Amino acid sequence: MSSSDPSAAASASTGTSPRRATTVPGVRGHKVRDAKAPLVMVTAYDAPGARMADAGGVDLILVGDSVANNVLGFDDTLRVTIEDMAYHTAAVARSRPLALVVGDMPWMSYHVEAADTVRNGAALIRAGAGAVKLEGGAVRAPMVEALVAAEIPVMGHLGLTPQSVNAMGGYKVQARDDAGAERLLADAKRLVDAGCFSIVLEGVPEAVGAMVTDEIDVPTIGIGAGARCDGQVLVLHDLLGMNPRTPKFVRRYAELGDAAVSAIAAYAADVRSGAFPAAGETYH
Ligand code: KIV
Repeated sequence: MSSSDPSAAASASTGTSPRRATTVPGVRGHKVRDAKAPLVMVTAYDAPGARMADAGGVDLILVGDSVANNVLGFDDTLRVTIEDMAYHTAAVARSRPLALVVGDMPWMSYHVEAADTVRNGAALIRAGAGAVKLEGGAVRAPMVEALVAAEIPVMGHLGLTPQSVNAMGGYKVQARDDAGAERLLADAKRLVDAGCFSIVLEGVPEAVGAMVTDEIDVPTIGIGAGARCDGQVLVLHDLLGMNPRTPKFVRRYAELGDAAVSAIAAYAADVRSGAFPAAGETYH
């Protein structure tokens, strides 16, 4: 066991066998109805975030296009490019996590031509992703097929798809009526037929999350989609309490934003009072 391998160290201390790297085939068959524990996915956008996520034992790390809101200061995800996503994917992959790294395909990187879609997917794989994610249902199925034919595993994303914010007229819970739920289920089935190895369900009623989960043979990973999905995903900055406000579906497991402000204020006070640096923090 390498002393720099946090997951192996954790396994040794708990007496369990070492954690294995998550693979696409391992995820594809992972259904809670087969007595499997729910999959855990979290976003990360850089090496320190990925190291913490992996040490925390997640199964998948999503380099989400939500880097736009959570790191780059934009109001929506429509501003990031394939170059931005490759840059952040590479930073995450350099931490060499055991978790499967999923690179998010940004808006307009998979909407026009299959050849462009494959080139853009390949950019994320070359940056270190093991799979890519894209938003949308049946209309995107040809692009999923093109990626899969090029050996690029694809995770789907249905429901409240943030890249559709203008078309949806805001960030609104989707599939609230029977017709919407049926459309969503048809989209999920089409994505599975096209070759998706898992599907994120975002911002849908719990009953819809449960219905899709029951009806398809690849895992659903929910965010604001209730407890019946085959896994859950949260944005790292939300669950760590680094964003001032978080949506209803987020559980804040820490308040690192407040802790960081207190630490920085204490440092500023120490510099101003002369308490920092002390003799032990100085080269003599
Ligand atoms: O970019 C992202 O963070 C996502 C998750 C919300 C699933 O797509």
